[in-house]
Amino acid sequence: MMEILKIDSLNKSFSGVQVLKNINLSIQKGEIHAIVGENGAGKSTLMKIIAGELECDSGKIEFDGRMVNFSSPLEAINSGISLIHQEFSLVPQLSVYENIFLGREISKKFFKINFVDKKSMKKETLTVLKRFGISDIPVDSKVKNLSVADKQLTEIAKALSTNSKFLIMDEPTAALTLRETELLFAILKNLKNQNVTILFISHRLEEIFEIADNVTVLRNGEVVGTKKINEINMEEVVNMMVGRSLKNRFPDKVPHEIKDDPLLEVKGLSSESFKNVNFKLRKGEILAIAGLVGCGNMQLGESLFGLRDSEGEVSLEGKTIHLSEPTVAIKNGIFLVPEDRHDLGLILQLGVRENHSVPNLDFLSKFGFVLRKEEKKSVRSSINYLNTKVSSINQRVDNLSGGNQQKVVLGKWIARSPKILILDEPTRGIDIGAKYEIYKFMYDQVSKGVSIILISSELAEILNLSDRILVMSEGRITGELNPKNSTQEDILKLAVKGKEN
Ligand SMILES: Nc1ncnc2c1ncn2[C@@H]1O[C@H](COP(=O)(O)OP(=O)(O)OP(=O)(O)O)[C@@H](O)[C@H]1O
Ligand SMILES: [Mg+2]
Repeated sequence: MMEILKIDSLNKSFSGVQVLKNINLSIQKGEIHAIVGENGAGKSTLMKIIAGELECDSGKIEFDGRMVNFSSPLEAINSGISLIHQEFSLVPQLSVYENIFLGREISKKFFKINFVDKKSMKKETLTVLKRFGISDIPVDSKVKNLSVADKQLTEIAKALSTNSKFLIMDEPTAALTLRETELLFAILKNLKNQNVTILFISHRLEEIFEIADNVTVLRNGEVVGTKKINEINMEEVVNMMVGRSLKNRFPDKVPHEIKDDPLLEVKGLSSESFKNVNFKLRKGEILAIAGLVGCGNMQLGESLFGLRDSEGEVSLEGKTIHLSEPTVAIKNGIFLVPEDRHDLGLILQLGVRENHSVPNLDFLSKFGFVLRKEEKKSVRSSINYLNTKVSSINQRVDNLSGGNQQKVVLGKWIARSPKILILDEPTRGIDIGAKYEIYKFMYDQVSKGVSIILISSELAEILNLSDRILVMSEGRITGELNPKNSTQEDILKLAVKGKEN
């Protein structure tokens, strides 16, 4: 095997805080090399340096036999390196094909004037998508109208369309379902056969063991070690990541009382994305709403928070409520932790503190003044609870690692006393230790009498945590399962019901 990338004594600090310390890394041509580590370990930062988006403070990088010092992403792309971001970098207002060709548009001459050749770009996009077996993305749609999964696939297609020989994927599967992940893995194996080298980041360790040849573990900005995947097991990887052993992935179930009379009752609720939804949510219950991407469960969650129009009847503690906007939901103690944290969950330019207090000003302010002391206490307690890694409570949210951003979103709702928490993919991008904390948080909440609606594509999570499972397919509820005697297959069967002809 030939070495394609060699990193020697690399260091990087952000405003005095060292986030990468003396990194040494060697990547062989044609391998799939996994990079793992807890939230904030430095994975994305290292990837951005390799891809020319950030400069290191010191250290040497050798790529494909020569020393490199990329000063822009374009230079890296021209050398054959492309990076698929953890957080989407697509332009929401542009279509799928315009995004794929952004910055390198195909043009045609017409009387000596250059025109953007939309037709060719569209055709080329379809070819790229087809080559990698991605068939059902509407290439004309504006990216802002795509599901998170389709955004991710567009991002991947964009990188693949530049014919890179070194592909970096920062948590590409976080937003994908099982089936889409398998599709992606087929694509990766295909690329590997074409001698493309792949760096692959994921918090789902099963995936690492399925796809990678080698794995490098980062902890607190340092390389803990590199291992061949068939010479290590999952427990050992976790040990290297967190520096201690973590026996169980799910905390012991906390017995919690579920009241019989419903807290929330939904009757004949319909919208663009779901039809005639009926269910009862009982006090102190974790109700999972499972389904494949596009089944309508996410939109249902958003409607119950007043983010989307819907028709039908919703009553809370026996009283009809009109969830016309989020303020109504919040007033009634209903909160949503959304799937797409960048769209709905966070104001990226503001600090952790402001993000935390903006939705909580009703109890963190008096006569229009923020109660600074209360505010600090509240932020700190959420940060401690979730073990969020921030340099200070004033750190800008866009400078946090992906997983820690997610924790800020969760933390601001924890500060309130909710009646109902709607959690949409709450552990996406969250490291294994923090996942455990979030599961414990959920048990803690239900044992206090809070009800949780859990929307998740991780079937293990659904089966382990919930008290009851509703499954949706094509906008309808296709069945109810008891997690105690159900399997992943049972969920999947109901999730595709009505889809097969
Ligand atoms: N632009 C920046 N300014 C200041 N600090 C930053 C910046 N970018 C990253 N950091 C800090 O560097 C550290 C490493 O972040 P990084 O995004 O590399 O982590 P990660 O391993 O990718 O985590 P995750 O799994 O949560 O995505 C974090 O503590 C983060 O807050
Ligand atoms: Mg990251």
